Amino acid sequence: MIQSPTFADRPIAVIFSGGDAPGMNAFLRAVTRISLSRHHTPILGVRNGYGGLVEASKLDTYDLQKLVEERVGRWGMISDGQPLVLMDQPSVSGIVGKGGTILGTARCLEFHKPEVRARVVAMLEELGVRALIVCGGDGSLTGAELLTKESNLRIIGVPATIDNDLEFTEMALGVDSAVNTLVWAVDCFKDTARAHRRVMILETMGRGSGELARLAAIASGAEMVVTPDPKKPMTHADMEALALSIEAGMKAGRSHAIVLIAEGVRMEPEIKRNRAYVLADAFKEFFERPGGPFHDLEIRPSVLGHLQRGGHTSPQDCILAARFAEAALKEIMRPDGGNGITALRRGRIEIVPFGAPPLEDAEERSNASLHLHESLSSWEPL
Ligand code: F6P
Repeated sequence: MIQSPTFADRPIAVIFSGGDAPGMNAFLRAVTRISLSRHHTPILGVRNGYGGLVEASKLDTYDLQKLVEERVGRWGMISDGQPLVLMDQPSVSGIVGKGGTILGTARCLEFHKPEVRARVVAMLEELGVRALIVCGGDGSLTGAELLTKESNLRIIGVPATIDNDLEFTEMALGVDSAVNTLVWAVDCFKDTARAHRRVMILETMGRGSGELARLAAIASGAEMVVTPDPKKPMTHADMEALALSIEAGMKAGRSHAIVLIAEGVRMEPEIKRNRAYVLADAFKEFFERPGGPFHDLEIRPSVLGHLQRGGHTSPQDCILAARFAEAALKEIMRPDGGNGITALRRGRIEIVPFGAPPLEDAEERSNASLHLHESLSSWEPL
C-alpha cells in the first residue's frame, strides 16, 4: 500500500527562488522520485520561493503541519494559501520537460531581514525538516549561504539560471534550454532578414554575463555577438567599428546579418534604454552617413526578453537536473555530509562549498567562446 508522506519521516524542503529557469520542474520531479524511491524520505515543496517560507513561518506550526499532512500533493498545490506541500509521486507527473516551476518562484525582499530568517529557521526545525535544498541563481544561493551561517540546518544549493554566471559550475540548469530557444529564435529572424536584406539586432538576457549570448551565437550561426567587457564600457566609436565590419561584409556580397547583443553590455555614456535599440540607432546613423554605400540598409532591433526563460526544457537540462538531484540527496543522506552546492565540473557532478572560487578556467572559457565565434563567423556572399 502506498503511504501518504508525513512530517514523521523528516522531509527535505525544496525551494525554487529568483527568476525561473527551464529544468526547475525536472529537478523537482527527480528529487521527489529519487528521494521517495531510494531514501523513503518525503519532499516538502515550498510555494513561491523564500516568500512561501516566510508565509509558513507566520502560521501556528501545529495548524500548519495538520493542514499540510491533510492536503498532500496535487490537492495541496491547488489549495489557496497553502505555502508548503508534501509532494507525492502523482504531483510531479508530466512536468519533466515543462518550463517554469509548478511550485512557483519569487524574489522576496522580506527574507533580507535577519529576524525573518530566524523565524523561518525556527519553523523548519519545529517541523523536523531534515535539510533544505535551494534551487536558483546567484541571489538565491546567497540567501542559502546566509542560512548556513545562521542555523544548523543542512543546506544544499542547486544552480539554476539561464545567465550561466555562476563561475563555480560549467553549467547551471536552464542554460542549455535557453540556448535552444535562442537558436530557434535566430532561425526565425534569419529567414526574414535574408528575404529583406536586413540587419537584425537581437538582445539576449543574461544580466552582467555574456555567456548566454556567446553560446547562442556559436550554436545559431549569428554573424556578430556583442557581450559585456568587464574592463571597459562600449563607446559610440566601438559601435561604428562594428557597423564598419558589417559594411565590409555587405560590400563582399553578404545579404543580411544577425547581431546578438547581451542585455548587460555597459555603455559610455551610460544609457538606460535596451542595448539593441541603442546599437540599432548607432548603426542607422553610420549607414545613413553622406556618401555611405548602403543608405537603404534596414536595421531592425528586437528584445527577445522572457521567451528565453520559458518553453520546453531540453533533454540535456532534464538529465543535468536528475544528476544534480541525485548528488544533492546523496550528500544530505551521508551521515557526515555538509552544506554545499551541486556543480558540474569537468563532466562530473560535485558538491562544492558555498562561496567556492570560480573554476580556474572560467574567464578563459568565456574568452575561448568569443574567439571560437570569431573564427566561425563569415562574411562570404549569401
Ligand atoms: O537571472 C535571470 C534573468 O532572466 C536575467 O537574465 C534577466 O536580466 C532577469 O532575470 C529578468 O528578471 P525579471 O523576470 O524579474 O524581469
